[in-house]
Amino acid sequence: MNNGLEDVVAAETVLSDVDGLGGRLVIRGLPLEALAGRWRYEDVLALLWRDFLPGLPRDLQPALGAARVAAHAALADAIPAAAGLPLYDAMRSLMARLPDGNDLHTALQLVAAPATLLPALLRQRVGAMPLAPEPGLGHAADMLRMARGADPAPAAAAALDAYLVTVSDHGLNASTFAARVVASTEAGLNSAVLAALGALKGPLHGGAPGPVLDMLDAVGTADNAETWIDDELAAGHRLMGFGHRIYRVRDPRADALAGALERLRATGNASATRTDLALAVERAALAALARHKPDRRLDTNVEFYTALLLEALGFPRDSFTAVFAAGRVGGWVAHAREQAQTGRLIRPKSRYIGPVGEQAA
Ligand code: ACO
Repeated sequence: MNNGLEDVVAAETVLSDVDGLGGRLVIRGLPLEALAGRWRYEDVLALLWRDFLPGLPRDLQPALGAARVAAHAALADAIPAAAGLPLYDAMRSLMARLPDGNDLHTALQLVAAPATLLPALLRQRVGAMPLAPEPGLGHAADMLRMARGADPAPAAAAALDAYLVTVSDHGLNASTFAARVVASTEAGLNSAVLAALGALKGPLHGGAPGPVLDMLDAVGTADNAETWIDDELAAGHRLMGFGHRIYRVRDPRADALAGALERLRATGNASATRTDLALAVERAALAALARHKPDRRLDTNVEFYTALLLEALGFPRDSFTAVFAAGRVGGWVAHAREQAQTGRLIRPKSRYIGPVGEQAA
């Protein structure tokens, strides 16, 4: 048995390739560096969905804008009922109300929903009514506008667009695998996305960026970083935002997001003090992890810079995993369709190691 299915190839895909030794992510033939900060999220969606969703228009922006309006109309009345739930769970429960088809309409609704629901849920918390989507805006700009209640600076909208692109797809990670397992049973896209949302929530996958900020807060100042980190590792705790199952070098998505953060900082949209503290903590963490685990290279992963970027964009830390989902949902849909079109029912075996016969009594 291969614990954690490490190194097991469980699907063939044309969607993305994660090169863990080279530190490269390729999405449908294009390196992440060619996409993040250059392509709109809508265009990366069209790239991922090509051949998998009949009727896909060349330009997805109008269709996705219309889908935001439709998702808002379909779900706005139900939002107050989710008020008592944690943000991520509220978003997931509302998304469960969407149709469970396998067509382009369903796919667009599933991408549109987190971008409208998350801002609406954030506004509900402060007693404000949700803002209606503006279908003519870019997906990232509209999501940020609805969350903030005001038009974002172009640099901020561009940073969120770069983020959504950066996390749009990433091989057979835990949530994407969950989506493919469900799709392999011929259930609909919403069922696949709901399973993936469950998998993404955990701190070993998409739930790490909030705790990254908790770490920065606990460290407090750069000169405290080394001692704090050594104490954490000595206590057997993991440092959030470091380490990866596949990457043995720095996660290329960390660089893509560090670039987006730098552009935000250069335009006065990110705090220099916070970024400097984070860079000091990153340096201290990498040095400590190298000492702590000399036989296993542990480097910065996507979640470290996710935390800094989303904080700079004004998202509260308990919403970070939902913003991640708003980007990754495009990849989940593509993988679910690919699995349904090219794969078989996913049904591995387990080895029984429990008691037998009289031992069982
Ligand atoms: N801090 C301290 N030690 C670590 C860390 C870390 N961040 N990551 C791995 N290790 C250690 C483990 O304790 C383990 O040591 P051991 O062999 O003495 O028990 C060894 O490195 C290997 O760890 P595994 O858990 O076997 O490695 P795996 O490939 O399963 O872990 C994971 C990958 C879950 C991401 C891990 O590195 C981790 O927990 N990181 C912190 C959480 C995090 O940042 N999650 C976001 C990941 S990115 C994403 O999913 C989008």
